[in-house]
Amino acid sequence: MAKSFDVIVVGSGIAGLSFALKVAEAGHKVAIITKKNSAESNTNYAQGGIAAVTSATDFVEMHVADTLNAGDGLCDEVAVREILHDGPKSIDELIRLGVAFSQLDDGRVSLGKEGGHTKRRILHVQDVTGKAIEQALLHAIADSERIDTFEHHFAVELITAEKLRGAKKGGKSGNRVLGLYALNTNTERVETFAAASVLLATGGIGQVYQFTTNPMIATGDGIAMAHRAGVEVRNMEFIQFHPTAFFSPDGDRFLISEAVRGEGAILRNMAGDPFMQDYDKRKDLAPRDIVARAIDLEMKQSGARHVWLDTREIGLKHLHERFPNIYAHCARRGISLEKDMIPVVPAAHYLCGGVKTNLDGETSLAGLYACGEVACTGLHGANRLASNSLLEAVVMANRGAVAVNNYLAEKVPKQSKLPDWKDGDVRDSDERVVLSHNWEELKRTLWDYVGIVRTTKRLERARTRIQTLESEINDYYWNFKVDESLLELRNMILVAQLIIDCALQRKESRGLHFTLDYPKQKKKAKDSLAEPS
Ligand code: FAD
Ligand code: SIN
Repeated sequence: MAKSFDVIVVGSGIAGLSFALKVAEAGHKVAIITKKNSAESNTNYAQGGIAAVTSATDFVEMHVADTLNAGDGLCDEVAVREILHDGPKSIDELIRLGVAFSQLDDGRVSLGKEGGHTKRRILHVQDVTGKAIEQALLHAIADSERIDTFEHHFAVELITAEKLRGAKKGGKSGNRVLGLYALNTNTERVETFAAASVLLATGGIGQVYQFTTNPMIATGDGIAMAHRAGVEVRNMEFIQFHPTAFFSPDGDRFLISEAVRGEGAILRNMAGDPFMQDYDKRKDLAPRDIVARAIDLEMKQSGARHVWLDTREIGLKHLHERFPNIYAHCARRGISLEKDMIPVVPAAHYLCGGVKTNLDGETSLAGLYACGEVACTGLHGANRLASNSLLEAVVMANRGAVAVNNYLAEKVPKQSKLPDWKDGDVRDSDERVVLSHNWEELKRTLWDYVGIVRTTKRLERARTRIQTLESEINDYYWNFKVDESLLELRNMILVAQLIIDCALQRKESRGLHFTLDYPKQKKKAKDSLAEPS
């Protein structure tokens, strides 16, 4: 028997929680489905802060100009203007929910600076902004009687009217979302959830790369589910590599916030010399694509495994007060920020593309909405401006909630009965080792061949390898009982294919997509569309 709700929200980061609160306030019955415990999300690890115009000497049009400049000609200007105009209002709402942004001694809000911003405009809670936001939202959710949270439930597949009617060739008229299947990872059973509308808020894809700042949840499940349901996905080649993750030989990549450079830290090569002045007049605070490429080149030229981030001029008191989390992490690794330099390298950090939505969060499938990192609204274009993603997530969650309320008011026909998930002829997998090898191969392939600097030959090589992985995983999917790591690997393989497919379409270098075969930019910027499923 299906569990029935008005709205299903997949994901419990800033986007999913903000949206759930709004639709519940409007009187709807909401299910939040989340694959781990509720707090586990990219949101929970956000450090630098949330960008919005809140000071009297700053203007939304300046924020717009910085965003367009970082986006390298591919932003949707209307989306940029509308989302950034909504920024200050959304910040007020976060404050009302209890987010206590850091203040200066005189009581004014403390504003951080990050790459590509011409003004100090990043609100933050020391260097644990995401955790503070996540906690405030979770408290509000706990107080809502209309929201049921299903932790340890992994959304597997969307149910659509078209899928129920059977795979028909051509014509998608009347297609809409009806609910989804989710694997309860405690009972290992797949459950059916019915709702007239579903929000995908599943976050990013960092885990498809060998080295990433993202936690384990970031496996691109929402994008894969949407694509399998025939929903439009775009601009997947624009993967943002954060320039400064802590280099550790065990492969862990803890983020060292760009805000540290905003407070005066500088990058140095292995000889101890600063180098960013050779790449951009904004030096260490140039947009991320430029800084990450510069570090990549410095490392390739010198053969070094990392470069250095020098925080020694910032001063111990300020380092402690502003970056307690980063300070503690480095101390655990034997680095004292007031006297040592931090070994840093770029790492996969953020996906600028995703499920295509309009400014109401609507996707190309009726009833299906997407917001946060899983979505592509046009705000980021070819490269996201620092700290614009938390802002986009909360603004779009609020706009999406209004749109869903209107959609539900239109009296969407009720679906009487959804079929249960069919396990078919399943048996437990006794070849788990193949799965873990395939995970590793996928991540290494993307890192080696679909990284910061690309070529057509490398992308094609990656495509061939991923095709082999795809046929192996399909064997598993249809023959074995599904579990979380099998489902994640299947999704990551599809996401990898979409990234490579979009990258091969783009015969130019723009923003985060840099290819040695087409180093110049075309005159007209165009979105890339992932091949339909
Ligand atoms: P997330 O917060 O990632 O939430 C996704 C949710 O979906 C999770 O609850 C996850 O468990 C769930 N989920 C995923 N798949 C499934 C599934 N199949 N079934 C059920 N549930 C599922 N941005 C900024 O603007 N400022 C910053 O300072 C900043 N710092 C960052 C620091 C780090 C280390 C990282 C990794 C990112 C940072 N970002 C920052 C980016 C920003 O944090 C994310 O883009 C943003 O939090 C995404 O929010 P979201 O709600 O879309 O997704
Ligand atoms: C950071 O703190 O450097 C991350 C900010 C972001 O990803 O926007």
